[in-house]
Amino acid sequence: MLSHRSNEKEILDLGPDYYTEEEFTHCQKMLYRINKILGFFHGTVNVLKTGGEKAHVVDVGCGAGLFILNLSRYFPKMTFHGIDISSEAINMANYEKSVFRSDTSNVKFEKMAEPKLTFGENSVDVILATMVCHHMSNEEIIAFFKQALYTTKDKVIINDLHRNSIAYWFYRLFSQILFSSRLITYDGLISIKRGFIRQELITLLEQAGMKHYQVKWCFPFRWRVIIWKK
Ligand SMILES: C[S@@+](CC[C@H](N)C(=O)[O-])C[C@H]1O[C@@H](n2cnc3c(N)ncnc32)[C@H](O)[C@@H]1O
Repeated sequence: MLSHRSNEKEILDLGPDYYTEEEFTHCQKMLYRINKILGFFHGTVNVLKTGGEKAHVVDVGCGAGLFILNLSRYFPKMTFHGIDISSEAINMANYEKSVFRSDTSNVKFEKMAEPKLTFGENSVDVILATMVCHHMSNEEIIAFFKQALYTTKDKVIINDLHRNSIAYWFYRLFSQILFSSRLITYDGLISIKRGFIRQELITLLEQAGMKHYQVKWCFPFRWRVIIWKK
């Protein structure tokens, strides 16, 4: 069942006819908590600490924006630009920005006109994509890696899931008890099925022509990929 990346669609990818506004809002808030539990958030803080303190960071597939709103508290001199193909996500991100408990003047959100990066060459310091690549097909990921490397001056940080049977069965057994949310439990299992094993990530990076990269497995069942410009 987990020998190949699944093509199944997550409910969230089917659009607003398939879930309520309350489910969407709850799911986005839980996603930020899950990002913290899995270590994506603090792992990204540690990588950003190694770059310039005034870096311009673009978060691709920013969802409800909680990831970069919270990053902006750690890095008040950086500028954060969250983009997403979903207008609901960007609406929620703008709302979360308006009620956020600290200064957010260095954060902005924007709906993408198409699932493609349209910034100029070397126009951004860091491109970030957390829990986004598993939504894409292999062809879309290769195109994204190429666009991201063209756009960044410094590095691309990709956080995503390890497709692994222990993770799948653990999540299948415990997610309903832990999260009691249809979107989190159903989409979470599909996310794991759409996740990656190490060799797939390396193959995608090589097919995209990436030369300077690191694929790091991190506990529990997540990948951190960094692509450097040089
Ligand atoms: C699982 S959510 C993750 C949101 C956020 N990064 C986080 O970690 O909380 C995936 C997001 O990626 C967006 N997305 C999916 N495919 C995309 C693409 N090709 N380009 C930009 N955003 C995309 C979806 O609309 C959704 O908001």
